[in-house]
Amino acid sequence: MSRTVIRGGLVVTASDEMHADVLIEDGRIAALAATGTPAAGAWTAERTVDATGKYVIPGGVDGHTHMEMPFGGTYASDTFETGTRAAAWGGTTTIVDFAVQSVGRPLREGLDAWHAKADGRCAIDYAFHMIVSDVNQETLKEMDLLVTEGVTSFKQFMAYPGVFYSDDGQILRAMQQAAGNGGLIMMHAENGIAIDVLVEQALARGETDPRYHGEVRKALLEAEATHRAIRLAQVAGAPLYVVHVSAREAVAELARARDEGLDVFGETCPQYLFLSTDNLAEPDFEGAKYVCSTPLRPRDHQAALWQGLRTNDLQVVSTDHCPFCFSGQKELGRGDFSKIPNGLPGVENRMDLLHQAVVDGRISRRRWIEIACATPARMFGLYPKKGTIAPGADADVVVYDPHAEQVISAETHHMNVDYSAYEGRRVTGRVETVLSRGEFVVTGREFTGRAGHGTYTPRSTCQYLS
Ligand code: URP
Ligand code: ZN
Ligand code: ZN
Ligand code: ZN
Repeated sequence: MSRTVIRGGLVVTASDEMHADVLIEDGRIAALAATGTPAAGAWTAERTVDATGKYVIPGGVDGHTHMEMPFGGTYASDTFETGTRAAAWGGTTTIVDFAVQSVGRPLREGLDAWHAKADGRCAIDYAFHMIVSDVNQETLKEMDLLVTEGVTSFKQFMAYPGVFYSDDGQILRAMQQAAGNGGLIMMHAENGIAIDVLVEQALARGETDPRYHGEVRKALLEAEATHRAIRLAQVAGAPLYVVHVSAREAVAELARARDEGLDVFGETCPQYLFLSTDNLAEPDFEGAKYVCSTPLRPRDHQAALWQGLRTNDLQVVSTDHCPFCFSGQKELGRGDFSKIPNGLPGVENRMDLLHQAVVDGRISRRRWIEIACATPARMFGLYPKKGTIAPGADADVVVYDPHAEQVISAETHHMNVDYSAYEGRRVTGRVETVLSRGEFVVTGREFTGRAGHGTYTPRSTCQYLS
């Protein structure tokens, strides 16, 4: 039996804070006991970590990543190996990535392909959502089967006509199926049909710079799609999770639906909380680094997102990590913003950026853990194995130094991408040590993990329904 004790830290979960020692046995949390008590003092272990002055927190659960995702003729630049290593560096110990169904092909084929990409390569545990690009009688039946295999959530797109797009009828059918099998529909809520008209008109006017990506993908078209998704889910009697919410008007739609008592949930991402259309407008095509969908919004939308996190109208912060190098990938869209691959890197930065929000007084420490660890674990059926520090949980634990200062930079990050969306940003707080199922993946700022330690983790259905 292997035993590790983490001594003297402030254990922070979504529900509690206590000065406690944590005993880990065979990859699981065995016990917690108040620091300095005889019970904790009696524990012996092969390894002891001194966490005095540090936080001891559950490993982060990033419910939205895209390793090696094909998009716009290229692939997201992080593989499961590089991306999960970077995640570990940033204090995240579980990712839920998106397997993609190709149009005309079975869900099974897409899921198998994603298993093949990830198997034996991950430094931390992983699970899958399924992107449903083609709703038909076969795929609806396959959804039932996938739920029994631990793939319990399905992303649909109201954007990207001709690629991932589903029309309202297809969405309603998938929602009805989810209502029957316990699955959770995750919605990319933007009116892609209307956006494509605005894209065509902008390009015809010679408006080709990255900043026009933000102008054509209007906040109102996010809000309209969010509203429509909510009402379709209500008609189907299904819960709904809206991904990457960026517009204040969309938050208002979620808040209204929640006030009606609907099981409607919202996720936002660090890029919407910390970046804005000012970044998209950076000269010399630098704005391309910030092209993602939904797009970055004018700075004054951020207050609504922070408020949504405080009122629980937004429940989760995920990264939507989907990195493309500036050189050779983002550059595909020089002269035509619509050809810039959509997505931002961030899997390594989420825990630190949200800790900065704690330092700045925007959220409490417990809320930090709730939105980044516990709620994503509950939302996607991984709790209490993931997302908390409690007896029986996987020993996915981060020792976090809340006083260390760091400057985020592509020079020092571990993501396989040639820029940082947060270049030069100073943050207080830094990951020191990371355990995944009791194994030391990061040890005092050194990577000690290995590709293949991370295992596929099947999920139960949503544990966050009211
Ligand atoms: O721009 C983004 N978000 N790229 C990733 C794909 C998606 O829509 O989530
Ligand atoms: Zn999306
Ligand atoms: Zn409310
Ligand atoms: Zn995404």
